[in-house]
Amino acid sequence: MNKVVVGAQWGDEGKAKITDLLAQDADLIIRYQGGCNAGHTVVAHNKTFKFHLIPSGILYGNKTCFIGAGTVILPEAFDKEVKELIEQGIDISGLKVSPLASITMPYHTEVDGYSEDNAKKGKIGTTKKGIGPTYTDKVARFGLKIEDLYSPEALNEKLDVILPLKNKTLEKVYGLQPYSKECVLALCEKYAEIFKPYVCFDWQEMLNNSKKKQILFEGAQGVMLDVDYGTYPFVTSSNPIGGGACTGSGYGPKMIDEVIGVAKAYVTRVGEGPFVTELTDETGDKIREIGHEFGVTTGRPRRCGWFDAVTMKYSVLVGGLTSVALTKIDVFDTFDEIKVCTAYKDTRTGEIYTSYPTNVYIHKYLEPVYETHKGWGENVSNIREYSQLPDNCKKYLARLEELLEVPISIISVGPDREQTIFKK
Ligand code: IMP
Repeated sequence: MNKVVVGAQWGDEGKAKITDLLAQDADLIIRYQGGCNAGHTVVAHNKTFKFHLIPSGILYGNKTCFIGAGTVILPEAFDKEVKELIEQGIDISGLKVSPLASITMPYHTEVDGYSEDNAKKGKIGTTKKGIGPTYTDKVARFGLKIEDLYSPEALNEKLDVILPLKNKTLEKVYGLQPYSKECVLALCEKYAEIFKPYVCFDWQEMLNNSKKKQILFEGAQGVMLDVDYGTYPFVTSSNPIGGGACTGSGYGPKMIDEVIGVAKAYVTRVGEGPFVTELTDETGDKIREIGHEFGVTTGRPRRCGWFDAVTMKYSVLVGGLTSVALTKIDVFDTFDEIKVCTAYKDTRTGEIYTSYPTNVYIHKYLEPVYETHKGWGENVSNIREYSQLPDNCKKYLARLEELLEVPISIISVGPDREQTIFKK
């Protein structure tokens, strides 16, 4: 069974743990989009590992971990992650990088930082890792790919086209320093060294030979941050949805058997953008505190709110989810009441939306319509069997399944691998 793991909300749903669990059975793990904007922490071998780009499956030591063509790679970040893993004694011989992945250049991070810091209106709240500008250049056919680093002719020709225009924009639009060709060539020489041991020039052969193996496609961010289907423009610049696994890996849709959407029992988001069920009160603070909701990449406190079944149902549809892994239900152990948003009400007209309205500019006029569930008032973190869960917890889960029309196949009751319930 080939599986895609994708965040079903706005990222940070606890994908790392689910991916780590599912990676056990995989031979090949492919990260298919995004860059070092993602961040997750895995505790293994009694050590803490922080991942941004490299699939955490590398910790098993016997998996091929492929960073696919749909990703964007900041060479310095990749180098740091590789070095840290080596220093911690991890065998990274299974690490491979697609020659078709895009390179984040210093001017991409500079532009991202400048745009964020100077935006008077329309601030996105990006991670400032150069993700948007790198994808912008890729789609504008203005980007550098890893394979260019090993082809002096291509690099030379490309830079002659890219640099004059890039420099004009850097200087005139952003007031930033231009880059000389010599400087960029020197950078590329350094990058070529960084990637050399990992570039997989025979990736076609590798994909062909892996067709009968178990493949795990690893998404970053979440469906609601998808550039086509998320809360645009408050999104990342790639396609975390299940469909993105195809374009980002080089495999076609028939190679995918299951798409597992990871969702929290509540919702969090970092950065700007609409969030109808956001709680700016004590309940939101309580969720943040118990759930330790602070970003791994930026350390920012995450915005917290009740489970939003309207958005999640949309995520099931466009994300192509075949089941849901629900994480952090233990965060609600001490809650008397738990709310679930089943519809939105337009405060201007009274109109009720049960389908997700994609025009996010009207979201500020929407208020959540909640149903309230009784809490279960006990610690579920030691439970390993679905049947042992408190009745109110089972009722809550059953109601979510009914609303979403897909099974909740995995329930996470704590950060450890063992704190997981597989629902048969
Ligand atoms: P960018 O991906 O850095 O361009 O940021 C665009 C939006 O996506 C911002 O709201 C970020 O906070 C959000 N974002 C990017 N990566 C992640 C992630 O891994 N988890 C949660 N939010 C993310």
